[in-house]
Amino acid sequence: MKILVSGGAGYIGSHTVIQLIAAGHDVVIVDNFSNANPTVLGRLEALTGTSIAAHSFDLTDLDKTEHLFATEDFDGVIHFAGHKAVGESVEKPLDYYENNLGSTFSLVRAMQRYDVDKMVFSSSATVYGEEQAGATEDRRTYATNPYGWTKVMQEQILRDVAVAAPQMRFALLRYFNPVGAHPSGTIGEDPSGIPNNLVPFIAQVAVGKRDRLLVFGDDYDTVDGTGVRDYIHVEDLAAGHIAALEALERSDVAVHTWNLGSGRGTSVLEMLRAFEKAVGRPIPYEIVPRRAGDIATSYADPSKANAELGWSTKKTIEDMCEDVWRWQSQNPQGFAG
Ligand code: WQD
Repeated sequence: MKILVSGGAGYIGSHTVIQLIAAGHDVVIVDNFSNANPTVLGRLEALTGTSIAAHSFDLTDLDKTEHLFATEDFDGVIHFAGHKAVGESVEKPLDYYENNLGSTFSLVRAMQRYDVDKMVFSSSATVYGEEQAGATEDRRTYATNPYGWTKVMQEQILRDVAVAAPQMRFALLRYFNPVGAHPSGTIGEDPSGIPNNLVPFIAQVAVGKRDRLLVFGDDYDTVDGTGVRDYIHVEDLAAGHIAALEALERSDVAVHTWNLGSGRGTSVLEMLRAFEKAVGRPIPYEIVPRRAGDIATSYADPSKANAELGWSTKKTIEDMCEDVWRWQSQNPQGFAG
């Protein structure tokens, strides 16, 4: 199939592009590069051995989006594009609602105008609010921040569109905590500024870019008092997108919702120890007070995706740390380097 990958130059999008091409699909990337470096495009072409069409514009521009659909004959869309920083969404709610919802409005309108009927949507476990532990897909959705609300709302928008346009097929993929990097070490997560997320921060401490990890609280009701999360390797996450896309091709169900996670929890300190093993030396850290808005425990119940997609995670926490360390040590300044 010919697939438009929105946000295809980003962390999860770029890893998914590689697997789409390996699975025999044709790929076109659209990205406004607000949270991605164009350097990744050359890395993707080197890894796939093929040229990849990439368009740089903002998906909230309906005219540009429809023009792209007019010039290409897409079979489906994988929609990653969107702002995703929880803290930033609290400071800039209008930017988040306008960008995340507006890009989805444009894409779906263009899809309907040009008879493209399949979309895999990048949702998030954040739609389970503070009840993420062992969440199943039928659990109520709500959010505790504007970013999370944009995901709750986009899921609802797509469910409502599916009622009005029964020929369309949607897969809503609720990711838990994506980490890891392509085993080549040539692409990986490259957050701009100070990393919000745990593993990229640890990697920057390990490579000498930050002086120590701040562990946000060790007084949670967990195995060692630190926060527990369901980390999923980005390679496993990408494979889940391929499986979901291909499931839509043969599905007569309008909207599928799948959790993509391992079903296992890992604490902050357990992740730190695994990273130290990958690096081969201790990584400095300091226990500090909890981060506002954090929950103690989050992990998936991935049994629906396991059963309906024949998909499950294959990579371990050790794989994640080894792959991130290879990427970070080979690219101390990320793509900018
Ligand atoms: C993980 C654990 C922190 C950084 C976020 C978004 C969520 C989703 C995934 C998009 C927690 C602790 C972290 C640090 C730390 N993104 N931590 N020191 O918060 O589970 O989820 O990313 O969908 O929407 O909220 O991930 O990596 O920020 O935190 O101790 O410097 O690591 O307290 O327990 P989180 P995270």
